[in-house]
Amino acid sequence: MIKSPLGSRISRIDAADKVTGKTKFLTDMSVPGMVYAYPIYSSIPFGHITDINSAAAESLTGFIGFYTHKDIPGKNQVGVILPDQPLLVEKTVRFMGDVIGVVVADTHENARKAASLIDISYETLEPVFTIEDSKNSSGPLLHETNIACSHRVIKGDISKGFETSHHIIEASFTTPVQEHYYLEPQGCIVIPGEDQIYIIGSLQCPYYIQKAVAAITAYAMENIIVEQAPTGGAFGGKEDVPSEVCARTALAALMVKRPVKMVYDRKDDMQITSKRHPFQMHYKIGVSNSGEILAAEVRLEENAGAYATLSSVVSYRASIQGLGPYRIPNVKMESTSYYTNLPPNGAFRGFGSPQAAFGHERMMDIVANKLGMDPIEFRLINIIRSGDSTITGQELVTSVSAEETIVQARDAAYWTDIRSKSTPDSRYITGMGIAVTHYGNCLGAAGWHMDGSGASVRIREDGQIDVAFGLVEMGQGALTAVAQMTAEALGVDISRINVLPTRSDRLPDSGPSVASRNVVMTGRAIQDAVSKLTPPILKAASDMMDFPTGLLELKNDQIIDGQTGNSISFDDVLQYMFTHNIPTQSEGWWHVPPLKFDPQTGLGEAYFTYSYATHLAKVRVDTVTGLVFVDKIWAAHDVGKAINPAGIEGQVEGGIAQGIGWALTENFRYDQGKVITPGLTTYLLPTAGDIPEIKTIIIENPAPDGPWGAKGIGEPSIIPTAAAIANAVSHALGAPINDLPITPENVLNLIQRKAP
Ligand code: MOS
Repeated sequence: MIKSPLGSRISRIDAADKVTGKTKFLTDMSVPGMVYAYPIYSSIPFGHITDINSAAAESLTGFIGFYTHKDIPGKNQVGVILPDQPLLVEKTVRFMGDVIGVVVADTHENARKAASLIDISYETLEPVFTIEDSKNSSGPLLHETNIACSHRVIKGDISKGFETSHHIIEASFTTPVQEHYYLEPQGCIVIPGEDQIYIIGSLQCPYYIQKAVAAITAYAMENIIVEQAPTGGAFGGKEDVPSEVCARTALAALMVKRPVKMVYDRKDDMQITSKRHPFQMHYKIGVSNSGEILAAEVRLEENAGAYATLSSVVSYRASIQGLGPYRIPNVKMESTSYYTNLPPNGAFRGFGSPQAAFGHERMMDIVANKLGMDPIEFRLINIIRSGDSTITGQELVTSVSAEETIVQARDAAYWTDIRSKSTPDSRYITGMGIAVTHYGNCLGAAGWHMDGSGASVRIREDGQIDVAFGLVEMGQGALTAVAQMTAEALGVDISRINVLPTRSDRLPDSGPSVASRNVVMTGRAIQDAVSKLTPPILKAASDMMDFPTGLLELKNDQIIDGQTGNSISFDDVLQYMFTHNIPTQSEGWWHVPPLKFDPQTGLGEAYFTYSYATHLAKVRVDTVTGLVFVDKIWAAHDVGKAINPAGIEGQVEGGIAQGIGWALTENFRYDQGKVITPGLTTYLLPTAGDIPEIKTIIIENPAPDGPWGAKGIGEPSIIPTAAAIANAVSHALGAPINDLPITPENVLNLIQRKAP
């Protein structure tokens, strides 16, 4: 028996089923009478539809139906924050991948084939693909304006700050698209009922889907039941997109009055769905001779793609975190997202944080270099410590461990030894780089209104305990963490805990499963639920044992009297409760505490707490081929409290692998809006051979608002990686890497430019 499940390295409770192939993913599922839908999407990036001819598709064997916006019973709108996105295009297509209609056929293959036979005629418009083109476009705008959203942080007096600076240093950076490449593509099954629609899908945010499908079908929200199927990866790519997939499938199901399944093929998934926003960034930093940052002016610009979707979440977060965990008295930060004729970009692990981290951490190295300082020494002069304020003027007093992550990573990595060792004049040059980041937990001030989540705990007569939570398991280890937290909160063995699949009717709208929310939100909700469940258990024990309730405690499956040490088993108390008809079920809820924030100035409490991280990367650059090898990464993360250290290591290793891909190999390309890297032969994900030894250092500095002090780790794990690698390659080459990905071509160009 595991005495204290919290903090233990418990194996994932879903591991055995997943590795033995027992888990049924959405793609493995079918229901009787099911038919198949497939989307028809625009083959041009910008233009007006002039004609749709479905005759050829209709004569195909197996064809069942073809549906467009005209068939939508409700509102043709699926924008998650701004109402700028039709579910099915009415007239204007805004990217190659904009969905115009759905076909239904007897098989997936026939549905695909029928979709390819729908002939669409267009009048083309001049597309824009880059931020610069979007800004300067004199042609037709994508929407009323080409600006999707903007955010700012204005603090102090920026001109005075620069005036008093001894050095003013400027640099520009760019980061590329990143495709989630979840192993399981987008998909769902919709079963239409008399007055209910049941949806099961590969998804992150059941309540978003409930809302979207209700609006499209004109059903009441409570009549849309959304269940999450075991999900083969998401990383943000199944936040907003499944609302579209499910709503299109629901429309098809209502039309044909049968269960309908829709699964995107990989190539189409990559053309239609969201990705990580490319950023272009300009930094201007003023410092004193002694290395104190006095002023910072930053312009962040994001390529939003054709619709806003989650751009404002990305743009907001980037504006708050865009100068890292440093003390800076005078700040002007502007973050703007521009519409372009590309697939709409959305959520991807970090919501703009890895991009912003690339900007501020490259900049820190550039400034340190200019001052002739060691990058760590320079960072430690400016790092946020307890009692300091962030760039938004938020005073941080608890769980502020940025400095400790630096110090622990530095000491573990023998930073000075490796960094100062000059590489002999050989084919391979070694470099060592650092990146330090913070991550505002949960949705922050901009999303505060929806930052609440629930959990319910039901003890069954056989002593097993069912837990439902409003967020999801999408590969991150949520089921295991939820089981551990429930067992700990109750004081029972973890083998009793049975975590139920997430379904929208089990709990009130718990918000999206994003922003590294699960441990924090669900953990607090479990504590709330258990705080209502423990008193009746102790009361029953007190009645049975004739002890005063105040001295009793439920621990290790026993109700123990603290004074005499006498005990009674949890199972005996349960029997008593069931025979006396005492309820053994409760529901819990937690909402993020109020945040004072002014969106006009960007000043105030942006997030209720922050996770901190430092990554150190040791790289080897091959000067002949230009290839970069990552030899080792040291990753120090302040997680508040480790619920499951093995789970945290898993998150850190996964985040770093994804960060290495974004930094080095994943070179996502479009040609005139068409994805020309639509699979793994052209879009190079890192493999096991590309992943180095990773030393994870867990720091536990409890956050008072976190459950047992815990903070989020899912996204913090990827945020510093690419910046640390770029700093390491810059160190190796003695030349700045200011653009990602770091391709062999770019490396060789830098080497040649440096050559005498
Ligand atoms: Mo994720 S970017 O929090 O969906």
